Amino acid sequence: MAQSPIAGLHPAPTRHAELVAWVERIASLTKPDRVHWCDGSEAEKAAIVADLIDKGTLRALDPVKRPGSYYAASDPRDVARVESRTFICPADPKDAGPTNNWAEPTEMRARLDGLFDGCMVGRTMYVVPFCMGPLGSEISALGVEITDSGYVAVSMGIMTRMGKDALDALGEDGVFVPAVHTLGAPLADGQADVPWPCNEDKWIVHFPETREIWSYGSGYGGNALLGKKCYALRIASVMARDEGWLAEHMLILKLTDPQDRVKYVAAAFPSACGKTNLAMLQPSIPGWKAETVGDDIAWMRFGDDGRLYAVNPEAGFFGVAPGTSRNTNKNALETLATNTVFTNVALTADNDVWWEGLTKEAPEGLTNWKGQLHDPASGEPAAHPNARFAAPAAQCPTIAPEWEDPKGVPIDAILFGGRRASAVPLVTEAFDWEHGVFLGSTVASEGTAAAENKVGELRRDPFAMLPFCGYNMGDYFAHWLAMGKKSDPAKLPRFYFVNWFRKGSDGKFVWPGFGDNARVLKWISERLNGEAEAVRTPVGHVPTREALDLDGLDLSEADLATLLDVDVEVWTEEASRIPAFFETFGDRMPKTLWDQHKALEQRLSSA
Ligand code: GTP
Ligand code: MN
Ligand code: MN
Repeated sequence: MAQSPIAGLHPAPTRHAELVAWVERIASLTKPDRVHWCDGSEAEKAAIVADLIDKGTLRALDPVKRPGSYYAASDPRDVARVESRTFICPADPKDAGPTNNWAEPTEMRARLDGLFDGCMVGRTMYVVPFCMGPLGSEISALGVEITDSGYVAVSMGIMTRMGKDALDALGEDGVFVPAVHTLGAPLADGQADVPWPCNEDKWIVHFPETREIWSYGSGYGGNALLGKKCYALRIASVMARDEGWLAEHMLILKLTDPQDRVKYVAAAFPSACGKTNLAMLQPSIPGWKAETVGDDIAWMRFGDDGRLYAVNPEAGFFGVAPGTSRNTNKNALETLATNTVFTNVALTADNDVWWEGLTKEAPEGLTNWKGQLHDPASGEPAAHPNARFAAPAAQCPTIAPEWEDPKGVPIDAILFGGRRASAVPLVTEAFDWEHGVFLGSTVASEGTAAAENKVGELRRDPFAMLPFCGYNMGDYFAHWLAMGKKSDPAKLPRFYFVNWFRKGSDGKFVWPGFGDNARVLKWISERLNGEAEAVRTPVGHVPTREALDLDGLDLSEADLATLLDVDVEVWTEEASRIPAFFETFGDRMPKTLWDQHKALEQRLSSA
């Protein structure tokens, strides 16, 4: 074979002909100066990090206080996922559904060809093989990301099983999802680089039918670490539909009661609504233990025994920093002690990190995420509200010993939740699987900094998958309904709806949340054992006052009424807003869920 003009293109460290051909094709399109195949070694990480420090993208944090850790500040125009620039491109727009942006695939390919032509000029193209899920697990799947960002290559090393092992797992003809990422910032000869290259124009594109990902113009995690939202949710949800499993925006938690009985819980909350916090929960009630299996994504399929098994496809946590403190999530803080990449937090005068909520007072001499001296009087936060950390999951002090078990863990309960200042009780148990799917399909939450919709505004986010479902959500609901028929009802997980965010008339959260959420988990665990009492309400089973362990909590009778009582009038109004949402799915909306809505209205009117 002739020597490629691009340094590092040959020899490739694999005999996977299709992979090599794809890498050559992308290299000739994007025209990088050199190609580097990532092996995932420490030496490789050190070299990429040194280069990023040189360019000003990363800054090494204090080696004693924060060993092996780095700070990055993004371009102020590149701080979150860009839902308006995210596309799902099957041939038929109906297969993308009303909740996704769609573009005609041939036209989109032509556009991408233009955008990617020469987009890596002056840069290194990294070829990043990765495995989502434990290596060797039947639930796991492989991918290869091509990127011209060293920050992305290093972050993929934290967030996935990246490098030689994944490449070896591919063998000579293994199936992989091809994912191409560029910052969209080629460097002309002699042109100086900037610390956070990106492009004003951004395109996050998925071709579900060929299972491909193309990402242009952003260096931000959710847009650029393609193993995560793009693969493990959008593309994987399509694979899961076709193959009879589930790829979900869910944390996975192991809960052990004082009698050593174990329950595994999966929970879907929209972005910035408490998954990472619940996954690392420190129970406030004696005798209960919580351990972490995953904090963002769950891949689940039925085992031979008829139970639903879940793995965490990721190897790291990409969590929201602001609000994380000793009091709210001490396990997260301990996870972040070493080997962590922080993005858009504030920098202290002694080269450590800080964010709103870490301590009560901001330390003197902070540099804010925009690189300016922080002025507390300005009212502007020092850290961006969506500032994130990327840390290895293995460093979490509460990581469950079985977190990498290739078999996965058998799920007992599935929780839904969101930020709801009103109406929604602290916890509700679904009547059965179909009612649970109905609850999941109606999840709504007030906007947060993690997405583009207005902070505080209510939006529907079914199963917390609105930004992540790679196909028509009407079909997605049907898929969930069909999954419930795959096993004996007694072996299926039960569904719960939780809400930590009820506000009182003073505008403050009524429920203390965080470690006290263990009280709700306790009730759920006891329900699963057939031990805890509940009241049957029109919206589901709600705990009796006595069944909920409130020992040591300072809650008034009025607070409890806010948390647990179902207001029929408010819920009648709530129920009346569901049809407009269901109608958007037209004939793709399963009749079963319309029937569930009708049944809810009937229960409300006879209450
Ligand atoms: P993504 O990683 O974007 O998918 O979000 P996430 O669901 O992991 O959200 P995370 O756990 O990072 O929570 C983000 C915000 O929710 C922070 O501001 C937390 O302080 C807040 N939060 C989490 N749990 C609770 C709780 O129990 N009560 C209250 N009041 N706030 C909470
Ligand atoms: Mn998430
Ligand atoms: Mn999270």
